[in-house]
Amino acid sequence: MISSFITITPMTTPGREKTRPTTTSLLSAARSAEHATPFLVMDLAAVDEQIRQFRELLPNVFIHYAMKCNPEPRVLQQVVASGATFEIASLAELRTLLHAGIPVDDVIFSNPVKIAEHIDGAYAAGVRTFAFDSLAELDKLACHAPGAQVYVRLRTLDINSVVPSEGKFGVDLDEAVELMVRARSLGLVPSGIGFHVGSQMMDPYSWTVAIIQSATLMRRLEREGIRITMLDLGGGFPARYEGETPHLAAIADAIRTALADDLPYPVDRIVIEPGRGLVADAGIMVATVIGTAVRAGTSWLHLDVGAFNGMMESLETRNTLRFPMTDSKSSPGTRSWHVTGPTCDSQDTLLLDVDLSADLVPGDRVFIHTAGAYTTCYASTFNGFDRPQTYCLDADFEL
Ligand SMILES: Cc1ncc(COP(=O)(O)O)c(C=O)c1O
Repeated sequence: MISSFITITPMTTPGREKTRPTTTSLLSAARSAEHATPFLVMDLAAVDEQIRQFRELLPNVFIHYAMKCNPEPRVLQQVVASGATFEIASLAELRTLLHAGIPVDDVIFSNPVKIAEHIDGAYAAGVRTFAFDSLAELDKLACHAPGAQVYVRLRTLDINSVVPSEGKFGVDLDEAVELMVRARSLGLVPSGIGFHVGSQMMDPYSWTVAIIQSATLMRRLEREGIRITMLDLGGGFPARYEGETPHLAAIADAIRTALADDLPYPVDRIVIEPGRGLVADAGIMVATVIGTAVRAGTSWLHLDVGAFNGMMESLETRNTLRFPMTDSKSSPGTRSWHVTGPTCDSQDTLLLDVDLSADLVPGDRVFIHTAGAYTTCYASTFNGFDRPQTYCLDADFEL
């Protein structure tokens, strides 16, 4: 599948870009689709292209898609067809893969704290690689996944990412050494180190710092007679929301350089776990305007999608994650709108001060770009509003 790419704004600072990689076919499908809203359109060719880019920029690195961010079965099938595999956080995710007929023996279970029955189920299905960051988890793994390969989750330094996901997991170097030694004494194979720099990470240097930390841990483990065979660089690769984003090439450069210069010995498997960076740009959420209002001089645009039925990251980031938006009117005259969701909850707002057509009325449509990650999977039916359906280009559209 080949789709052509349109550039909406030109390249800016070297190493960073201000382009929106919406494919022409995705945009025209979103604009012409008559399906009931809200719905998400995914361009599987764009997912394929993104995986191709990762492979080209990081050759010999194993891609484990973080399926939590969009577990749509056709997206999962595309990931497999494009030559990548998965990281999971629960048994339900594993079952989704099995149900889709996807082989799971190379899947890694990256949630550092797992439900014991989930470990049982994953082990029975052939999963043999598990993350941990505590003694309690090691005891659980020794009992429910005897002899498994385990990798310790390192705490990364506090470099701000746009969607913070660090702070909950990870241990420092001293604890990591202690835990890996303990893993060996429990009959597990202490085989790896993992980290996550934080989601929508805008600073390539954060991977450099985390790889240097991992290299220090490798040297200390070697003194204990432990040599690792897997280094998991996690997720965090950014998608292209509004504003400038570091180019994947700049991040890959930082990673390749740190791996070449800093590791004390070559590691068999270098792994990445991209979620957002694989699928966000491949999706457009289509919503309908359900109302407009002027309140205290501010124009409000009410959509049938909001924080609770798909756009949770608006709430999570206090409206700072700027999803690019366009509309079906494309009028020359625009107005600054506060774009909000359908519920009665005032936390439901997507974005403040968005330039969209001034003459939008109920029934018009709004297109929320870069919506392929952490949208439908977060959606609830709070207040009685529908979750978005997902449609995929080609299969669900006649263009
Ligand atoms: C263990 C792990 N790996 C990968 C990811 C994917 O992160 P991102 O979507 O930022 O690439 C997550 C997200 O929470 C995660 O918890």
